[in-house]
Amino acid sequence: MKKLVVLSGAGMSAESGIKTFRDMGGLWEQYNVTEVASPEAWARDPTLVLKFYNERRKQLFEAKPNAGHIGLAELENHFEVHIITQNVDDLHERAGSTRVIHLHGELKKARSTADANLIYELPHWELKEGDLCEKGSQLRPHIVWFGEPVTAIDAAAELVQQADIFVVIGTSLSVYPAAGLLQFVSSGVPVYVIDPGVPAFIPAANIQVIKEKASAGIKQLTAQLIEDKSDKN
Ligand code: APR
Repeated sequence: MKKLVVLSGAGMSAESGIKTFRDMGGLWEQYNVTEVASPEAWARDPTLVLKFYNERRKQLFEAKPNAGHIGLAELENHFEVHIITQNVDDLHERAGSTRVIHLHGELKKARSTADANLIYELPHWELKEGDLCEKGSQLRPHIVWFGEPVTAIDAAAELVQQADIFVVIGTSLSVYPAAGLLQFVSSGVPVYVIDPGVPAFIPAANIQVIKEKASAGIKQLTAQLIEDKSDKN
């Protein structure tokens, strides 16, 4: 099977009712990113940071994968699909996708502030002050905050280099190193960008833009890829 690698962002989950960050009415309009999503913010006001992620986690427990997530899971019948997501939600996995890398962490997990290797599943939306790891340190959201290293980026770049098809869905491509993954696509490999808006990228001959929301765009792309595949057989 051909390797189809996807880079997804917040737009992928917009149709599941989860806000994006930089669109109109997005999270970063409501919250000051330096007050809720950095190690400095955590040191300054852990209560505010916990409250921010608890609200998002509560929403995630109520959210469902949308037709776009399900479409990508179904593409596994035709391609070896790998998803590299900037999203901290678990909607790709809940839709049935079997190969998912989270670059920016996972909202339904917490980790120790004393030992970053101690990571715990959260059965419930609320993470409180006083919730401790087995070493007795406060648990924090298992999220990569601004200024923290994106430890999964090398594995992601390697995957992108091996891609036969690369698809970018619902990301403004404004945050690095994730946005830099486009540079790792091998020459001549077709790239599809699914976004109703205009993400920040340099147009190139091998890039096809599908100006649609994730669910409609993935449906369109799936039809095109399956047609291309049968033409070649
Ligand atoms: N379907 C597809 N794309 C959509 C949809 C939709 N229904 N709705 C909005 N979009 C697009 C927007 O046009 C925009 O290009 O999704 C993109 C969302 O961009 P951002 O809000 O910037 O989200 P993202 O690119 O994922 O942010 C990257 O920034 O704040 C940090 O860590 C956070 O992972 C996040 C990173």
